[in-house]
Amino acid sequence: MNRINLIKPDDWHLHLRSGQIMKSVVGMSAAQMGRAIIMPNLTPPIKSARQAQAYCKEILKSLPTTSSFKPLMALYLTDNTTSKDIAEAVTTPEVYAAKLYPAGSTTNSDNGVTNIANIYSALEAMQKEGVPLLVHGEVTDPEVDVFDRESVFIEKILDRVVKDFPDLKIVLEHITTKDAVDYVIDCKNNLAATITPHHLLANRNHMLVGGIKPHYYCLPVLKRQNPDQKALLKAATSGNPKFFLGTDSAPHDREKKESACGCAGIFSAHAAIELYAEAFDGEGAIERLEGFASIFGPDFYGLPHNQEKITLEKSPWRVPDHYELAGSKLTPFFAGFELSWRLIS
Ligand code: DOR
Ligand code: ZN
Repeated sequence: MNRINLIKPDDWHLHLRSGQIMKSVVGMSAAQMGRAIIMPNLTPPIKSARQAQAYCKEILKSLPTTSSFKPLMALYLTDNTTSKDIAEAVTTPEVYAAKLYPAGSTTNSDNGVTNIANIYSALEAMQKEGVPLLVHGEVTDPEVDVFDRESVFIEKILDRVVKDFPDLKIVLEHITTKDAVDYVIDCKNNLAATITPHHLLANRNHMLVGGIKPHYYCLPVLKRQNPDQKALLKAATSGNPKFFLGTDSAPHDREKKESACGCAGIFSAHAAIELYAEAFDGEGAIERLEGFASIFGPDFYGLPHNQEKITLEKSPWRVPDHYELAGSKLTPFFAGFELSWRLIS
């Protein structure tokens, strides 16, 4: 198979930032994706429906009027988010979800939730109104090893939320472990998970063997090839609709990554669907890509599939070493390496 047609995919987890950075990167996602859930971890964060509306407008303004890309906004939950904030989100057509960042878990999460009990009234309202909860699933306890933080979160926090809110739709974002895969498979159908291209194509050896590679650093951090990366590949290519596409593409300029205290985030929007195609083809499952990329996400969110189609061709190309980013440079995932699939239309 040298050419495949797919329903246009959507990205259910995307960081665009704002201002000049957003202007540098948004076109790459718009060229590939029909829609994307836009992460709210800006400084300051997007905490209200009104802020989400303004941010959505800013994104749309930076795209050509011919673009059909649709940003789907998410609210940033804090200790002070109320059921009234959720009610406002429900009546704001731009808002599709709310995001839980445990405070201190990742980039721009300082205003996140310090104790899950603090958002129980918001979760009650979200369950009632059908607003999906998007979860950065890591504990922040300094006693817990960084490689165990997702598994401990599932055991100590997520499982409690799942039991206390049986009808709440939850997306466990950017899963990285076999523990997460197993938990999602065993759980009821209103829990799903997104999987990134970098967690499918890389493991912690890529980041740490032969010298430390800051462009492979993200959170949750890359795990072991066996059993974690293997379990993610199996889940993504299994055809199970609980697993779908979410890149977590996160632009940071080169100086901030190549630093004594480099920040977390891997940029993949330049070649998102080609990277997933590489992973699926590697597993001999390219025919399962469309479900994962274009069908299971909208089905979970209760949204229609995109009308447009895209075509991928087997035609190797080399990922550039960098892209321009608001006057600085951005090193993309797979920089300098070859990808076998190319998006041709
Ligand atoms: O690696 C990450 N980068 N993980 C996150 O959760 C946030 C993201 C970012 O905003 O840069
Ligand atoms: Zn993210």
